[in-house]
Amino acid sequence: MPIQFFPESKVFKLDTKTTSYVMQVGQYDYLLHLYYGALIPDAELGYLAYTCGHGAHFPCVEMSNAEIPYFSKSLHRMEYSCNGCGDFRPSALSILRSTGTADTDIQYVSHKIYAGKPKIAGQPATYATEDEATTLEVLCKDHVSGAEVTLFYTVFEIYGAMTRHASVRNASDKAMDLKSVLSTCVDFHDATDMDFIHLYGSACKERLFERAPLIHGTQSVFSKRGYSSHIHNPFIALCSHDATEESGDAYGFNLVYTGNFLASADMDSDGGGRVLMGINPEGFSWHLEPGESFTSPEAVMVYSNEGLGGMSRIFHRLYRNNLCRGAWKNKKRPILINNWEATYFKFDEEKLYDIAKAASQLGIEMLVMDDGWFGTRNSSRSALGDWFVNEEKLKGGLGKLVERVNGLGMKFGIWFEPEMVSRDSDLFRAHPEWALQTPGRPMSISRHQYTLDMSRADVRDYLFDCIKKVMDSANIAYIKWDFNRTLTEVGSALLGPDKQQEVFHRYVLGLYELLERLLTAYPELLLEGCASGGGRFDPAWLYYSPQFWASDDTDAIERLDIQYGTSMCYPTSTVGAHVSAVPNHQVGRTTPLKTRGDVAMAGTFGYELDLTVLTDEEKEIVKAQCADYHKYYDVIHYGDLYRLISPWKDRTRCAWMYVSEDKSEAHVTYVVIRKRVHERHFVRLAGLDPSKRYLNEQTGQVLSGKTWMNAGMCVQGGPNDFTSFTFHLVAVD
Ligand code: GLA
Repeated sequence: MPIQFFPESKVFKLDTKTTSYVMQVGQYDYLLHLYYGALIPDAELGYLAYTCGHGAHFPCVEMSNAEIPYFSKSLHRMEYSCNGCGDFRPSALSILRSTGTADTDIQYVSHKIYAGKPKIAGQPATYATEDEATTLEVLCKDHVSGAEVTLFYTVFEIYGAMTRHASVRNASDKAMDLKSVLSTCVDFHDATDMDFIHLYGSACKERLFERAPLIHGTQSVFSKRGYSSHIHNPFIALCSHDATEESGDAYGFNLVYTGNFLASADMDSDGGGRVLMGINPEGFSWHLEPGESFTSPEAVMVYSNEGLGGMSRIFHRLYRNNLCRGAWKNKKRPILINNWEATYFKFDEEKLYDIAKAASQLGIEMLVMDDGWFGTRNSSRSALGDWFVNEEKLKGGLGKLVERVNGLGMKFGIWFEPEMVSRDSDLFRAHPEWALQTPGRPMSISRHQYTLDMSRADVRDYLFDCIKKVMDSANIAYIKWDFNRTLTEVGSALLGPDKQQEVFHRYVLGLYELLERLLTAYPELLLEGCASGGGRFDPAWLYYSPQFWASDDTDAIERLDIQYGTSMCYPTSTVGAHVSAVPNHQVGRTTPLKTRGDVAMAGTFGYELDLTVLTDEEKEIVKAQCADYHKYYDVIHYGDLYRLISPWKDRTRCAWMYVSEDKSEAHVTYVVIRKRVHERHFVRLAGLDPSKRYLNEQTGQVLSGKTWMNAGMCVQGGPNDFTSFTFHLVAVD
């Protein structure tokens, strides 16, 4: 049984194939955290819940009739920490009572264990059949405020992954306000040997990897921008100081939420650790009348003792199989050509058709028409919200263009930025109250646009109808759903003062509702998320769109850093990556077309340049890349990723490989970032079957998996900086 309860010791043990998570109903029914890490045998682990002294600095719960009359929360590892009653570390739960005080304290009441995984109504989450996962619900209660708190734990037995979320029901007869309801709280007995990893960035340099020792105090990453954002990803990891790509302890935490989040790791003065993750309490409050409840988003937790690589591979499998869904989940994605960097706003139907025609001759399968096809949109200054085809640009309308593109044997995709409204738009002139705003304060402008109030049903209905009209007018296979500004002055004209602190979260719930509605109406639609590049690359989006445009920086060398960080938890099949023109539009660098292709191949793959101006030689390279995409698709998209050389290591090279699940083939990519004299490098491969022999299709060499992994593959430096190499290995016995 993946989840067991031992009644005598009141210990819960939650196991996957490789991990154990243990907690106990302790003294006075407080839920204590005992252990999270590599699988351990069934045993009574009560000894981990030590009870120790009390005194001026450790206020205690006192129960005169108890065997041990004192219990200090701040000296224990608590399962779900509460505010104001003796646990002085950061709290997961804080509830403002009708008394005006925010003292919160929960104790165990009951639990249930069942096969499968419940849905979280109205929110994205991982999903599972009854064979794939087992769930534990622990009901706790604050006996003073009357709040009932249910902690949900699901273990995915085969993955070494588990998920958590919490829900709070007001079971009292007075209103209460939730100030903080985080999704997970994990205490560690000893965090002195740990590094803190997170992914930071900004537009055009998203998810950059950073690792530093955890120090005393709290280290956190967060968003208060209304979306998960470029600045920090809702992902953190703790790993042992000695953890490498392939060995050592690695704990990964990722929030299935696309709004304001907080992810923190705290080390107390005794070296104990606490990880918290959930909706950012700053800017959040949720009002509960008697009988009402609130449910947090889900946090995904992964542990591996096979280092960061092991951790990432668990995330990848879980997300590919149990988070992404719909028609495109495991279907080969079309190679696309997007016209953005080819034309920006300057295009008409003939230009698009010419690009599509050139693309169709090279093996590209879908044309995506980016920003600029609607209203009076000729620059970023106007027309967001006016989702009506601009027939001056697209003469004959959308239907005609799509038909012509389809006639070339290509699919057609289209860009929207539904959540936004330009100041200069018919929509804003008609409905200024539909934009987020607060009374009496000027609205901040960004990219000449405001944000629509997605908490409003009328706004969502308008957007759905607009998108539906476009979808029904032509054969559209794909939508790029963009989002290009940060939320400010977050207030809703429809809600009273007591609900304004809910708007950030209501916005996110409204967005989820619209996405769900769209996918229900168009189940075959391939949705790609985008937010000024990869500003919203988070697991919540992957529930709706199985691919996300990773960054507006399309330079192959910059992409090494971006895609390396992204791969910490997000699978290759979700990473939007395109080949673009040189000199690169973002950084001005010139890299070989081969390298641009090899790097974009570690993603959903496509092109973003004017194909009508390619030389014959370039056309041949593109044709070969498209053929390779199909040839290596399975191993790259369904295989296991092994990061061989980090681009951060010494900034001279980067390498990674994919190995098919049955270890019968592998695909290696090696990029020279900065060439050095006499470059001759042995890169040690990983993940192969040591007992199998593999043929390197490029060199003809046949060596055992053991040799490839221990002695390495020799890569002779390329002629220049930015050269790349790919090698395909197939098992020969
Ligand atoms: C954002 C996206 C780009 C492009 C532009 C269009 O910046 O990230 O890919 O779609 O918007 O305005």
